[in-house]
Amino acid sequence: MTAPRIALCPGSFDPLTLGHVDIVRRGLALADRVVVAVAFSPTHAKQGLLTVDERVELIRESFADEPRVQADSFQGLLVDYARRTGAGLVIRGVRTVADFEYEAQMAVMNRELSADALETVFLAPSPAHSFVSATLVRQIATLGGDVSRFVPAPVLRRLNEKLGR
Ligand code: PNS
Repeated sequence: MTAPRIALCPGSFDPLTLGHVDIVRRGLALADRVVVAVAFSPTHAKQGLLTVDERVELIRESFADEPRVQADSFQGLLVDYARRTGAGLVIRGVRTVADFEYEAQMAVMNRELSADALETVFLAPSPAHSFVSATLVRQIATLGGDVSRFVPAPVLRRLNEKLGR
């Protein structure tokens, strides 16, 4: 029996958006399991809207119907986490040319750091999600806008609770 092919979908996920969900579901065509992994650093903790535990919990709830998707968090280098989890593939969504410049740099660096053990694939989102970003969702939600079209139901509920609506 061959080993299961594990892909990582790393990110900040503050919060998980429907754009992320779209990319993760597309990623299932490329791997047996996709681990959606929230990256965090206790020293440079980016002031986020959601805690790391909340982000992981919301990923879990949003993919409750898909046993091949798992939620986790990690600190430190992605290549070290990939080695620990046995993943050989990183999946990243790319919306724009600007995204691609940063993503290509990270992909090549991760391959270098892993001695060719970690490849990255870029997936394009569906057109409906090509303008959705967690940064914009965070901003719109914080300023009282409606983000119901851009996030999964569990995320919407949590944002409403958190922002007192
Ligand atoms: O959602 P984001 O913020 O665009 O995700 C960026 C992320 C988490 C994928 C990237 O910052 C990352 O891989 N961080 C882990 C630390 C690491 O390995 N850095 C070196 C990358 S070459």
